[in-house]
Amino acid sequence: MEKVIARIREARQQHQDQMLDLLRIPSISSDPARKRDMEAAARWILNKMQAAGVRSEIASTPGHDIVYGEISGPAGAPTVLVYGHYDVQPVDPLDLWDTPPFEPTIRDGAVYARGSSDDKAQLLVHLLAAEAILAEHGELPVTVKFCIEGEEEVGSPSLTPFVADNRDKLACDAVLVSDSSFFARGVPSLVYGLRGLAYVEVLVRGPIRDLHSGSFGGAVTNPADALAGMIAALHDADRRVTIPGFYDRVREATAAEREGFAGLPHDDQSYMDELEVNGLQGEAGFSTLERLWIRPTLEVNGLWGGFQGEGAKTVLPAEAGAKLSMRLVPDQDPDEVADALEKHLESLAPAGVELEFIRHHGGRPFLAEPGSPFVAAGARALELAFGKKPVLTREGGSIPVVETFRAELGAPTVLMGLGLPDDAPHSPNEKMDLEQFHRGVEAAAHFLYLARKAGA
Ligand code: BES
Ligand code: MN
Ligand code: MN
Repeated sequence: MEKVIARIREARQQHQDQMLDLLRIPSISSDPARKRDMEAAARWILNKMQAAGVRSEIASTPGHDIVYGEISGPAGAPTVLVYGHYDVQPVDPLDLWDTPPFEPTIRDGAVYARGSSDDKAQLLVHLLAAEAILAEHGELPVTVKFCIEGEEEVGSPSLTPFVADNRDKLACDAVLVSDSSFFARGVPSLVYGLRGLAYVEVLVRGPIRDLHSGSFGGAVTNPADALAGMIAALHDADRRVTIPGFYDRVREATAAEREGFAGLPHDDQSYMDELEVNGLQGEAGFSTLERLWIRPTLEVNGLWGGFQGEGAKTVLPAEAGAKLSMRLVPDQDPDEVADALEKHLESLAPAGVELEFIRHHGGRPFLAEPGSPFVAAGARALELAFGKKPVLTREGGSIPVVETFRAELGAPTVLMGLGLPDDAPHSPNEKMDLEQFHRGVEAAAHFLYLARKAGA
């Protein structure tokens, strides 16, 4: 093991160069104009696996390619399935980036580029760790399967059926995912829960055309006004979501969980300072971390209608719209919750408007099996690489396929996130801390050795 770690440390510059290479590919999965770049990113991963000595192939899908790789460990050793995603979020607003999103730039010990933290650097550590072990010993301590997709940021529409159709191929004893963050710099965390997602777009249609707001306003239902009222009615004074049945399936967190969260080094004032806000808002009776991790929420992600140009135009818009998403916790069901939202909005709509809904991708919430020896191995790997025992946390974000793996493969998932909370994934100036990346390669290597014992 010391030799592997020494080898990883000696290769830091090469590792960094390779990470930058991958970051130069603008693999935005939601943008049809980036299809070629998506293929290039998949091929880059494939080549990297092959160079490392991993048997690999591209699985074509109706959407973006899945890169699959496999390398056998000693007979009888457990199998670890490593998951990651090479697709990234769109870059807009582009003018808020200090340096171009696909020209990775290093400042203050971090690399700034779209997809750096989410998830290219985090997925790469596992390929680099396997490469280092193979170069040193010619064999991995466990069998490793890699499943790297290009559609995570659009809801994994191809990977979900792929997993169901390839249960034997993907069979494993544990799933390993690095696509989340430390609790804070210097505070590694083992994430044991993710929220799910349901996403509904609503269009509110009123009169046949935009109308003069003087001649018609006050007598004709205004769709923008109607939508604003409907959205306002989705929360009560305690910031609880008013959709009937919304909380019915919510599995309450245990007292021990809530106590654990209360002991984490979080304080609302620094949180507010970081975000430059002068107050916070959320469901009454829950702390900030609880609101983020154990409670379901409803958010407006986009809102439009009426005159957006410069100056004033007196108009009663013919239509308005909103994109609404709900973060879900176990055991809420995305389809059921989306149905309930649509029904509730219908009941809130005033006479004079009609609603149309567009359902976007969602995902199920996830809670890890407590007490899995593989999860303990993940914690120990982080401790060995970063010199600090990880804290136990949940996350507010979603990785939909993680629950699919649990349901289809029946294996425990280890969420060994390597990002930092201020990495700004999905935002301008996304970054990945270089020390996190390099130590992450070491953690990934430690994990494979520890997994061997965990599976014994
Ligand atoms: N890596 C994130 C998920 C995440 C975010 C985990 C924060 C832990 C902390 C992932 O790439 C992501 O952005 N997921 C989407 C899922 C959606 C597109 C279905 C999300 O959470 O919005
Ligand atoms: Mn991600
Ligand atoms: Mn993401």
